[in-house]
Amino acid sequence: METKELRSKFLDKLQNSLKTGTFVKLTLSKPEHKNKELKNIYARLVEIKGESMLSFTLRHTTKDVTKNHPIAEAIAIIGSWLGSDFLNGDLYTTEEDIFIQYNKKRQPRIFTKPPSHQASQPTAHNKQKKRLVEADKNNVYLREMGIIGADGQVLPTGQKKFRQINKYIEIIDAQLQQSSLPADAHIVDMGSGKGYLTFALYDYLKNNLGMTPTIVGIELRQNLVDFCNALASKAGFEKLHFIAQDIQEYQPKRIDMLIALHACDTATDLAIAKGIQAHAQVIVVAPCCHKQIRKQMHCESDLQSILKHGILEERQAELITDGIRSLLMEAQGYKTKVFEFISTEHTSKNLMITGTKGKPNAEALAKVEAIKKQFGIESHYLEQLL
Ligand SMILES: C[S@@+](CC[C@H](N)C(=O)[O-])C[C@H]1O[C@@H](n2cnc3c(N)ncnc32)[C@H](O)[C@@H]1O
Repeated sequence: METKELRSKFLDKLQNSLKTGTFVKLTLSKPEHKNKELKNIYARLVEIKGESMLSFTLRHTTKDVTKNHPIAEAIAIIGSWLGSDFLNGDLYTTEEDIFIQYNKKRQPRIFTKPPSHQASQPTAHNKQKKRLVEADKNNVYLREMGIIGADGQVLPTGQKKFRQINKYIEIIDAQLQQSSLPADAHIVDMGSGKGYLTFALYDYLKNNLGMTPTIVGIELRQNLVDFCNALASKAGFEKLHFIAQDIQEYQPKRIDMLIALHACDTATDLAIAKGIQAHAQVIVVAPCCHKQIRKQMHCESDLQSILKHGILEERQAELITDGIRSLLMEAQGYKTKVFEFISTEHTSKNLMITGTKGKPNAEALAKVEAIKKQFGIESHYLEQLL
């Protein structure tokens, strides 16, 4: 291999170890520069204000100087030092130790050894978090959806979406550990929209967990369905399909996991009902805007003196709507959890309700009745559907 190719190979290994979370540390030694004081450089991964950086410690005879650089910049700097300012580069990863050494004629050689470190170093400023969905330039859907650029880096405009996708996959991953979904699980995502989360889920289940899922996205808007179907085919996601249909009309043959994220107003109830009726093992919903309960709510108790304020009434209505949803799911045999998710650009609502099939809660319906009575509610839409 040519001199340049060997250096590129070393830098590629460095970049890959940083991307996959296997990087431990790097040192540059055998100085060849004019500054006789600078003996070697030690690089480690740190996280500063949420951004991953390489922190260089420049070791001089009498002092150490620290400089932090964003990853891409740091790799370019290391590339410029290697073979000119320093003749040795030692890269330690949890997979292998890689060494590049230049001779006096500046001709390099690379060799590897089994890893001398079993775990990557925790970052000093903040422990580096391994993401379940990686930004990778070969990821077709992240690129086509404008979340990453051609170089595989998350674009500034895609940061929020990328965090949301990862949070979502983390939640699903935890959910899967508490249930026993079959490897060929049939999953339906109702109100799939542009499909960010649907694609991420398919990719994760198939390519990370080795499952063979079939995922169907149900979405009213034909243009989004066309976009998603074309993208699924481009990404080679054979069992990911989108159908332009109203959730209400959809007649599923089999649902193992039901998902509805930010589906508008009572579309969340339609989705939950479809999941329950199909005996889905797992239900995951993030409700969106709520209108149905607020219109009916009138409260005779002291609470009325608080609920006369529109914003408080709206929040109370949301609380009751989602609280009753989780109780109705419990009555149908789902063990539920309600917690914070991440809102989207479509909605400020940030609640998630998950349910895993277990034993019915015999008291749940009586509790629903008591709450309805207290707030003068005639019926919850989900109740009507079940
Ligand atoms: C706010 S978007 C959320 C998209 C996606 N789930 C997400 O979280 O990024 C809600 C989507 O649900 C779709 N939708 C609303 N009601 C629906 C219904 N009854 N049947 C099918 N799709 C519906 C809307 O067209 C919209 O694209």
